[in-house]
This record gives sequence, structure tokens and C-alpha cells, in this order.
Amino acid sequence: MAISSTQVVPDTSAIPQHVAIIMDGNGRWASKRLLPRTAGHAKGVQSVRRAVETCGRLGVKYLTLFAFSSENWRRPADEVSLLMRLFVQALEREVARLLEQGVRLHVVGDLSAFEPRLQDLISQAQAKTAHNDTLHLTVCANYGGRWDILQATRNMLLARPELAQNPAAIDEEALAAHLSMAWAPEPDLFIRTGGEQRISNFLIWQLAYAELFFTECYWPDFGERELLAAFEWYRTRERRFGRTSAQVHGVQGR
Ligand code: FPP
Repeated sequence: MAISSTQVVPDTSAIPQHVAIIMDGNGRWASKRLLPRTAGHAKGVQSVRRAVETCGRLGVKYLTLFAFSSENWRRPADEVSLLMRLFVQALEREVARLLEQGVRLHVVGDLSAFEPRLQDLISQAQAKTAHNDTLHLTVCANYGGRWDILQATRNMLLARPELAQNPAAIDEEALAAHLSMAWAPEPDLFIRTGGEQRISNFLIWQLAYAELFFTECYWPDFGERELLAAFEWYRTRERRFGRTSAQVHGVQGR
């Protein structure tokens, strides 16, 4: 199981091992060009492709993308159905490319809400790429951080019913083992495009110690240059995980 950043100080490196992205600004990118919002999502798929390629090449091991939140069902029906079509298309067309690049695909979220055909395509794409290990690409779909904590709590109690009688025995490890990304380390770097500065119910448990990078750049304009700028900023961060700066640098007596 992945190490918890609140329990143990994780190893860190110049290139983040796990990058999590909120791909925001598709609608505004399109509106600025007098295009329908859906054109922004279609263009956003190209940025997904670029991010996967760049992360794979630079040695990032985990890339997690927030594609559709539990709250996105509130959007106009035509936008929701276009997003569903884009997922289907991407699953049909991109798997060969993922295989070439050694990418393993995971889709996490409450997938029961999706139409059966989409659920089947997700299972097939996950199975076809299951042997890959260069980059783990996780698409969060119908995902919400609170949903994740709730489903983890329910599944923990189903797996270990005795904990209900002894709540004091519930620790982070017990719960985290049931989070939907229990197999991955916590994100080192969180990126949100599109100018907003919030986490919007993304991996709220797992982002506890992530470095948070916000950029005005709209997601369809986010390419290799912008990703490298985020990595450069990340490299300058001092990751203290609750320690003092002197402790991080091994200086005694401060
Ligand atoms: C947020 O922009 C973006 C989304 C809700 C959807 C993201 C989806 C994609 C990039 C395409 C499909 C992805 C995959 C993995 C195949 P917004 O619509 O909220 O933009 P706005 O804030 O400018 O309105």
C-alpha cells in the first residue's frame, strides 16, 4: 500500500512522481473564440495526449486527471453527453497509443452511473493495458473526494466489521487501504489550469501534502512548455512535511 504523507516523510525527487491535474478552462477557451463550449472539451483531449506523452518521457510514474466530477452532472445535458462521447471516442481510439507508450490506464469514480457500453469500454481498456508500468494514467470520472472517503469508509467496515465496535482502532492505514487510488503514492504536484484557485472536491484526502500550482492558462492551451514550467516551479519548493527548514537540510541545533 502507498505511504501516507502524514505518517512517514516520503522520499522526494526533482521530477514529481505523481502529478494530479484539474483540467479547467475548456469552456472559456471556446467562448473566447465564439465556439460552443463543447469545442473546448474536444480540443482539451489533445492536451491530455500531450500531458501523457510528456509525463511518460520525463519519468513521471503517475498522472491523474480530473475528467468529470460528481457535480458535473449539473451541466447542460448536451455538454454532459458530448463529454460522454469524448470518453467513448478516447477509449476506442487511444488505447493503441497507450500500449505503444507503456501506459497503464485506470478509471476511478462511481462508474455505475455511466451507460453500460462506456463501462464495458473502460473495463476493456483497463484490461488491455494492465501489464504496462511506464506511466499509470488515472482518469477520475464521476469522481468526488468526499465520495471516495465515504466509499472507503463503507468498504473498510464491510471488510473489517469488528472496527464498528472499536472505532479507536480505525487509523489512517485502515481507511486509506480502501480509497480508490490506494495502489498509488499520494500526488506530489497538483496543477489546476484556468485561473481558479481551489481543489473542487478532487483527491481531498490524498492532496494533504501536495504542492499546489495554479496557472491562468486554459487547459486546451496547456502544452509541454507549461508542464515544464510547473515542474520547474515544483523543483524550487521545499517539501517540509511538517518539519522545519533546518531539519530538511540536516542542520542541527536550529
Ligand atoms: C473543465 O473545464 C473541464 C471538464 C469538466 C472536462 C475535462 C474533459 C476533457 C479535457 C476531455 C476529455 C478527457 C479525457 C480524459 C478523454 P470547464 O468546462 O469547467 O471550463 P470553464 O471553467 O472555462 O467553463
